[in-house]
Amino acid sequence: MSSPRPIQKLSEDFRTAVNLSTSPGAVSTSPNASYINQARPRSYSMAKPAKALKPFSTGDMKILLLENVNETAIEIFNKQGYQVEFHKSSLPEEELIEKIKDVHAIGIRSKTKLTANVLRHAKNLVVIGCFCIGTNQVDLEYAAKSGVAVFNSPFSNSRSVAELVIAEIITLSRQLGDRSIEMHSGVWNKVSARCWEIRGKTLGIVGYGHIGAQLSVLAEAFGMHVIYYDVMMIMALGTAQQVPTLNDLLNQSDFVTLHVPETPETKDLMSTPQFAAMKDGAYLINASRGTVVDIQALVDALKLGKLAGAALDVYPNEPAKNGPLFNDELNSWASELRSLRNVILTPHIGGSTEEAQSAIGVEVGTALTRYINEGISTGAVNFPEVALRSLDLDQADAVRVLYIHQNVPGVLKTVNNVLAEHNIEKQFSDSRGDVAYLMADISHVNVDDIKSLYQQLEQTTYKIATRLLY
Ligand SMILES: NC(=O)c1ccc[n+]([C@@H]2O[C@H](COP(=O)([O-])OP(=O)(O)OC[C@H]3O[C@@H](n4cnc5c(N)ncnc54)[C@H](O)[C@@H]3O)[C@@H](O)[C@H]2O)c1
Repeated sequence: MSSPRPIQKLSEDFRTAVNLSTSPGAVSTSPNASYINQARPRSYSMAKPAKALKPFSTGDMKILLLENVNETAIEIFNKQGYQVEFHKSSLPEEELIEKIKDVHAIGIRSKTKLTANVLRHAKNLVVIGCFCIGTNQVDLEYAAKSGVAVFNSPFSNSRSVAELVIAEIITLSRQLGDRSIEMHSGVWNKVSARCWEIRGKTLGIVGYGHIGAQLSVLAEAFGMHVIYYDVMMIMALGTAQQVPTLNDLLNQSDFVTLHVPETPETKDLMSTPQFAAMKDGAYLINASRGTVVDIQALVDALKLGKLAGAALDVYPNEPAKNGPLFNDELNSWASELRSLRNVILTPHIGGSTEEAQSAIGVEVGTALTRYINEGISTGAVNFPEVALRSLDLDQADAVRVLYIHQNVPGVLKTVNNVLAEHNIEKQFSDSRGDVAYLMADISHVNVDDIKSLYQQLEQTTYKIATRLLY
């Protein structure tokens, strides 16, 4: 083992040695003292201070942020010292191709299309952040096969959705939508018939995940009795009770609210037989996905008076932009649905709050930073999820090896032959489809060892990308 050398010197030596000036994403070093002092909080904190790994020159790390990504993310990247280029809107494809050529990370929302055609120009790209829920706008498979991890933020808006549903329960129960429309047209209609308190009523939650569980707690605070149905056995919060079948839930609930994902199994989960199984005068709320409810069947149930009202935030076909577009051309039943009383229609705004946008900025910004600095891919949507506990602060002569490769037999043998010359402190590998990702912490290495490791790994047949962090 060679004696420890100043980190800055080691970094410079290594850069020169492997001539990495054209691929700055490939290597990272330990931070300087000021970084360590202000190192970000770690959710996986340990008793011993952890060694923070940083890109070898943070100023060289280029991040392109499009579509007005929330400022919480910009703050995170600025704190790291990355070069941030920010645009309020998306870019035309030609300009995007020009800009993506030399960036290491890109942050987008739903309008920017990262197709294979765009991604193949991205020579230094390490990671993509979708500052939104969906990831359809990215060619995930092409990205993975190019060694580019993609992160999103599926759960940052759970609370916003849960609060909207609480508002809708009261709004339906008190016919607030109808009263408001009447008043806006100058009609005073003071009624109490069929207007109810929600206290003591039963709320049936279908899908007890992030949103369903939040909602359960809020509803109990209003004095509601909560039951839920989920395909998984899930521990109840508060005094809520899981019921064994959807029918059990439908038979007992005054309000039924849907919080399941869009899957082949949940398509038309609520249709004529399910509406028939509901209590007379019950209400339906759907803020999950439009395909989960057979809306023509719902219209019929409302017209027959079987249901006393409904609130819909999502639809099978939704307009791509704002405007007077919610019509029969889009969905054949649109005008019939719009004409019904005590039916609240909202334009997919369940998760649309300032708080949710800010939380998305923090979640995706943090995920990108962890991946860039530490290689941790937990939460990636297209990539094997790999994490190792941090290196200790005093491990000056350690390197973290990140090796992305094609998922074919024999690769690990080849790689471990390379690594075996050193002390492998810890190692983890996982695969997803055609792509595999290995992370290993190697101790007692000097600059020549690191150079040699990098060069040997780069020459392996099935390599997709190699990064070394130290
Ligand atoms: N309206 C909006 O703006 C908005 C915002 C965020 C999320 N969403 C949607 O809300 C839904 C729920 O989101 P989440 O974050 O709570 O998801 P989640 O993955 O945390 O929870 C979904 C739950 O549904 C359960 N489930 C799956 N299939 C089921 C089935 N057939 N029957 C019963 N339970 C089933 C799962 O086991 C899980 O517990 C999703 O469809 C999501 O896309 C809508």
